[in-house]
Amino acid sequence: SIDVSTLTKKTGYTALDQGFVNTASTRSAITYIDGDKGILRYRGYPIEELAQQSTYLETAWLLIYGELPTASQLEEFDEKIRRHTLLHEDLKQFFSALPHTAHPMSMLSSAVSALSTYYEDSLNVHDPEQVEISTIRLLAKLPVIAAYAHKKSLGQAFLYPDNSLSFVDNFLRLNFGTLAEPYEVNPVLSKALDRLLILHEDHEQNASTSTVRLVGSTEANIFASVSAGINALYGPLHGGANEAVLKMLSQIRDSGEGVAKFVERVKKKEEGVRLMGFGHRVYKSYDPRAKLVKESADEVLEALGVQDPLLDLARELEQIALADDYFIQRKLYPNVDFYTGVIYKAMGFPARMFTVLFAIGRLPGWIAHWREMNDDPATKIGRPQQLYVGPPERHISR
Ligand code: ACO
Repeated sequence: SIDVSTLTKKTGYTALDQGFVNTASTRSAITYIDGDKGILRYRGYPIEELAQQSTYLETAWLLIYGELPTASQLEEFDEKIRRHTLLHEDLKQFFSALPHTAHPMSMLSSAVSALSTYYEDSLNVHDPEQVEISTIRLLAKLPVIAAYAHKKSLGQAFLYPDNSLSFVDNFLRLNFGTLAEPYEVNPVLSKALDRLLILHEDHEQNASTSTVRLVGSTEANIFASVSAGINALYGPLHGGANEAVLKMLSQIRDSGEGVAKFVERVKKKEEGVRLMGFGHRVYKSYDPRAKLVKESADEVLEALGVQDPLLDLARELEQIALADDYFIQRKLYPNVDFYTGVIYKAMGFPARMFTVLFAIGRLPGWIAHWREMNDDPATKIGRPQQLYVGPPERHISR
């Protein structure tokens, strides 16, 4: 790869690279991907090892600070996050202003943006103490906001966090507990969710992370930058795909058209018909995260005592697609979103919460990238060039 950032001014040439297929926007030491070999590493550690041996918070530390934490560092980190889970009571009123039909992703991005109004000190983006406290606040409060968005759509009362619980258990209770009776966390569910969150923690310069970095490059604070990232994640070609997969599977089941016929419609490129959860800009082989999620799917459904015909449909779709020339030639494989929806559904989350779960997973990555960008003296405001194709100079003639 070549660094053209100093060249362009001298040569006067501008490269057009629609969708940034060949253009790096930054150097980064956080995540390594080899899309042809299906390799994903956070700070050098293979995703498979982290999924097996780490936890969401430990991996978050690794991404943000560069090394695995010692036991006491992790304990302190966990403790700090537990202490910052409460939302300002006025911020809770914010949800009353929204319709109960609001998509939880819209509620999430709006509420995260609103955090800036409570923590104006976060505007000092080059003050390490402010960056640190904003990091903790975001990690602590995003799951609470997410659970309140869920509760709002159900018309149920918001619970206060129970900070005696672990990060994931607290989140589950806030989502599924009620004021009426105590909530027992199912350890299988808790472990499975923690593992899924690890798999989503970072993925280098994807659309939402690039958005976080671009907004951050203007010296906008971390809440504003992450809120923008959440909006980028919302799209069905990015994080919104997990919700879209479940919709697609349900439609195939309800229409009775059968998997093979649906695949034919995908291949004909009928308007709006794509095999959601398939294909990736970087992976041209099996997405290593999808492999791990697929392994979990059976395990989790069995442990929760759930039988879902949609999982069989998903497997059948994968089998047909992977044997079909259309998909083989284009190197289209299942991505991380293909099987996650079936698991989230088994856990009891409605489809509209799936992308919200992705956002909680991706948060440590967004924070790590924002901090890396913010600390790098080589960072410049992101400002792409364009090739103008509009009319030449003309004049108003009346
Ligand atoms: N179903 C059918 N055809 C597909 C699919 C798909 N899911 N994905 C790509 N293709 C085809 C395209 O039609 C195109 O065919 P052509 O060469 O005949 O024109 C070819 O494969 C290349 O596709 P592009 O859209 O150019 O690939 P790109 O890298 O721009 O897009 C993307 C990647 C957006 C992920 C795409 O594969 C897609 O839309 N997938 C479905 C949505 C999805 O699952 N998104 C989640 C991605 S992972 C994540 O964000 C966590």
